[in-house]
Amino acid sequence: AQPQLLAGKNIMITAGPTREAIDPVRYISNHSSGKMGYALAQAARSLGANVTVVSGPVALAAPAKCNLVKVISALDMHDAVMADINQQDIFIACAAVADYRPATIAEQKIKKTNNDEMIVRMIKNPDIVAKVAALENAPFTVGFAAETQDVEHYARDKMQRKNLAMIAANDVSQSGQGFNAEDNALTVFWPQGMTQIALASKQDVAAQLLQLIATQFNANTSP
Ligand code: PMT
Repeated sequence: AQPQLLAGKNIMITAGPTREAIDPVRYISNHSSGKMGYALAQAARSLGANVTVVSGPVALAAPAKCNLVKVISALDMHDAVMADINQQDIFIACAAVADYRPATIAEQKIKKTNNDEMIVRMIKNPDIVAKVAALENAPFTVGFAAETQDVEHYARDKMQRKNLAMIAANDVSQSGQGFNAEDNALTVFWPQGMTQIALASKQDVAAQLLQLIATQFNANTSP
């Protein structure tokens, strides 16, 4: 058995995509499968944590022995996270939250017209991980960064801008890792350091990332 580095700690993890409705039958989304977030949930359980997963729509079985909160849109995810964040010691934002949503949701199915062009106006969604990190009693907050270029530069920039304790960057331009793949590879940054987690199954990568998070969390919170 693994040492219970996070025994009794409460961890919330966001996972999967969000769906942003255009009308009753259409939405905008992305290719997140939830596999990385669900693997993190199992890894956190293995270290003794009480785990809440706030999950967008995915085709995965519920993570064992975790509290699963199912949501659809970014606004739903935001509300579900905020409703329970005060109870959390650690927050990990692995979900691929839509940055924008359609400004209005048509009440009826939008009809095809003779126009060759159709414009959907989008407005910004709340940045969930940034809002969590900005709370007065913020939990130890870990973000992800999905990048297709300049991974280190953009990841460090996101960590600083969103005031995160750590950020796990994946290069989502590589095939066989990242969105909807079985495997992943991460570069993890925190203010005083960085390390690489080599390409491996999302379960292995999640176990290694949780070790790093537990180490930094325990270093930050021990007197
Ligand atoms: O689900 P899988 O198929 O297993 O794929 C895993 C993954 C590639 C989705 C995952 O490893 C990953 O990179 N997740 C973050 C995806 C993402 O949206 O990255 P981003 O760089 O756009 O966002 C940066 C951070 O802000 C993320 O922690 C994200 O959860 C958070 N965010 C973004 C927008 C928003 N409105 N609210 C947020 O909390």
